[in-house]
Amino acid sequence: MIVVTGATGKLGRLVVEGLLQKVPAATVIAAVRSPEKAAALAARGVQVRHADYARPETLATALAGAEKVLLVSSSEVGQRAAQHAAVVEAARRAGVGLLAYTSVLHGEHSRLALAAEHVATETALRASGLAWTFLRNGWYLENYTENLGPALQHGALVGCAGNGRIAAAARADYAAAAVAVLTGTGQAGRIHELAGDQPFTMAELAAEVSRQAGKPIAYRDLTPEQYRDVLTSAGVPGPFADLLVDSDVGITKGELDDASGTLRRLIGRPTTTLADAVKAALKG
Ligand SMILES: NC(=O)c1ccc[n+]([C@@H]2O[C@H](COP(=O)([O-])OP(=O)(O)OC[C@H]3O[C@@H](n4cnc5c(N)ncnc54)[C@H](OP(=O)(O)O)[C@@H]3O)[C@@H](O)[C@H]2O)c1
Repeated sequence: MIVVTGATGKLGRLVVEGLLQKVPAATVIAAVRSPEKAAALAARGVQVRHADYARPETLATALAGAEKVLLVSSSEVGQRAAQHAAVVEAARRAGVGLLAYTSVLHGEHSRLALAAEHVATETALRASGLAWTFLRNGWYLENYTENLGPALQHGALVGCAGNGRIAAAARADYAAAAVAVLTGTGQAGRIHELAGDQPFTMAELAAEVSRQAGKPIAYRDLTPEQYRDVLTSAGVPGPFADLLVDSDVGITKGELDDASGTLRRLIGRPTTTLADAVKAALKG
């Protein structure tokens, strides 16, 4: 049995879809915070179980009988270390054979503020005695392409990432990597640094959007303070704006760049290109 947590999220859904191409639905368990959101999966023969990271009492039943588990990192920033530790403990008690975790690119070497909770989870896993695999995911291309409306409207993308290179890949690429790990062998103790094949700068992103949209779109590089003001004026809560600013500053230092080609090798194909991601976003 393979359990996927966060299976109602964007990444988790893609992982379950990928698993269903490779293994019988009866061997896949979607462990989710909101089972009512997973009705379509249940209709396809996937077992749906309730698993709320913030309610440890739900986790033992959710993980019972699991041979392998994919722990998709929580979206509740600030609570993730404790939430993930609860899942790790439940997996240990359930005797899970392998727990794969969606971590952050470069793990303990990352200077991004958001890396701390991922590193805490990796540390908990190392100490647990469980067999683990770290899927250290880089940035999603969709972080940029899902919200192109304001850039198209104002003719500008803003940030404080300077000329930093971003080796982003599509969620579908990271999901395919998770599927490869969950259906493969020899994954215990493996650390996969996962990132896109063709790193780009924000100026290159703006140029690609401009080319495909047929209108001028420039990248305006701001100071961290200016960028924070833009984000909070647009309604982004202060703590989240701080994380976004910190991530852009990290990009200037190469924190989200990677040339290992690990993702490409793991999924057996090139990663999604920036051009294809922009094309899909403009179509949708
Ligand atoms: N690499 C990147 O660029 C990047 C960008 C953003 C996020 N991330 C990380 O990658 C994860 C997956 O990305 P995504 O795009 O699939 O995010 P997403 O669509 O927001 O999905 C997050 C999933 O986490 C679940 N979740 C949140 N709190 C939970 C809790 N207390 N108990 C159980 N499940 C809980 C959500 O459940 P519900 O469906 O019930 O809400 C959802 O299924 C995110 O959660 C975040 O940690 C990475």
